[in-house]
Amino acid sequence: MSKKSNIILIGFMGVGKGTVARALVKSSSFFAIDTDDLIESMENRKVKKIFKEEGEAYFRALEKKCATWLEENVENTIISTGGGFFKQENIHEIGKVIYLESSFDGILKRINAAPNAKAKLKKRPLLKDLKIAKKLYNERIKEYKKVSDITICVENRDMKDIIKDILGNI
Ligand code: S3P
Repeated sequence: MSKKSNIILIGFMGVGKGTVARALVKSSSFFAIDTDDLIESMENRKVKKIFKEEGEAYFRALEKKCATWLEENVENTIISTGGGFFKQENIHEIGKVIYLESSFDGILKRINAAPNAKAKLKKRPLLKDLKIAKKLYNERIKEYKKVSDITICVENRDMKDIIKDILGNI
């Protein structure tokens, strides 16, 4: 288990990692940072554009750079991550890993209920084809579980309840 004080939120695209991170910040003394936001500011372009212009491997290399930086420099922070960040070898050196769990249909329901649902779908290149996304989801769920220190179910739950659950588990 990590000696660092950070909390890393992992889970599939659209499960609500950023939303949970922001709610956690309000109920604790943690800071918050998001790996996709870090990458976008480092590159001065959106994730979607990075995928389009440079390809996925380039993006994964940026995630790796980000993981090294987080391990060396960050404390007391809730780190929300892109859905593929859980593959970073040093993830347990960065902090405690929490998997936010939901069914695939629950995730789609959550995205479609958002007022900016179209934008949420559009900005995620790996959600473009829902059949492929579902396959990726099925491949990933076992891996998320394996990597995580704690699993928190977020489907059909009040944010207050989710936050209480997380704070009670760390
Ligand atoms: C990805 C998830 C995205 C983003 C990129 C790749 C993935 O983040 O990092 O499009 O591999 O699952 P979100 O999980 O915030 O959508």
